[in-house]
Amino acid sequence: MSALQIRNLQHKYALTEVLSNINLDLAAGETLALVGPSGCGKSTLLHIIAGLLTPSEAVIKNDFRGTACMFQEPRLLPWKTAEDNITLGLKALHVPKQACRQQAQNIAKTLGLTADDLNKYPHELSGGMQSRIALGRALIIKPDLLLLDEPFSALDIGLKLELYRLLRQHITERGSSVLMITHDLMEAVRLADRIVMMIPEPGRLIGEFTLQQSHAERSETWIYQTTAKLMANDRIRIGFGLAEGSLNLTEHLHTQHSGCSI
Ligand SMILES: Nc1ncnc2c1ncn2[C@@H]1O[C@H](COP(=O)(O)OP(=O)(O)OP(=O)(O)O)[C@@H](O)[C@H]1O
Ligand SMILES: [Mg+2]
Repeated sequence: MSALQIRNLQHKYALTEVLSNINLDLAAGETLALVGPSGCGKSTLLHIIAGLLTPSEAVIKNDFRGTACMFQEPRLLPWKTAEDNITLGLKALHVPKQACRQQAQNIAKTLGLTADDLNKYPHELSGGMQSRIALGRALIIKPDLLLLDEPFSALDIGLKLELYRLLRQHITERGSSVLMITHDLMEAVRLADRIVMMIPEPGRLIGEFTLQQSHAERSETWIYQTTAKLMANDRIRIGFGLAEGSLNLTEHLHTQHSGCSI
């Protein structure tokens, strides 16, 4: 049974339809990666799921109790220190100051941030540091649904791998569900249980790929091979604009959302 169910979602900005007939499910404990080219409507869909935007039409059932979001831009409060930004959600839950501080320090450590970084204001931090603060702010409230919009795009590869590990650990320990947006197919293969491909104008879901391999058994070789296999898939190629002449695009795009296991 899905904890989140979206049926027949449509969204328009003024007269422009940006999302069309979106049907999506997310089970408790599942990690879903939404991939698609720039401008196809991924962030719009995430904002709708977060309840920050009302869709033009949709039937949405959402049984998650606590949701935390990490947006595409870190959205830190410029007048608050990194520590105060991380603990915003805890303060809203009336967690005592000392406990907030302790939890912020613990999470900062796992995110590769120093005590000195925690005293800085957002403008004194690099883009990657700001992203980590935003991830810390989302993780610290231990949400059962985590909505992540390109959480790792501003980070170097070493830090990315460390944060992938941290996120998977969080998911395993908490049993949280995650909906993450990424442009990086290999990142999706590393982290997700299921990958959904979206295409633009208007934003639609055209393919769904279930990754059968358990996370414990995903070796680097498996990750490379699976990414290569997906890159050869027609729907992925169409989605990323890689499909060439021989494919019958119209036929593919008119076929509804199809699913397969990989
Ligand atoms: N507030 C808005 N008002 C009008 N149009 C918007 C608004 N926000 C987004 N759009 C348009 O809706 C479409 C989808 O935008 P969205 O930000 O959801 O795409 P995206 O898939 O997240 O792109 P990216 O990968 O570049 O972040 C784009 O054409 C964008 O220009
Ligand atoms: Mg976006």
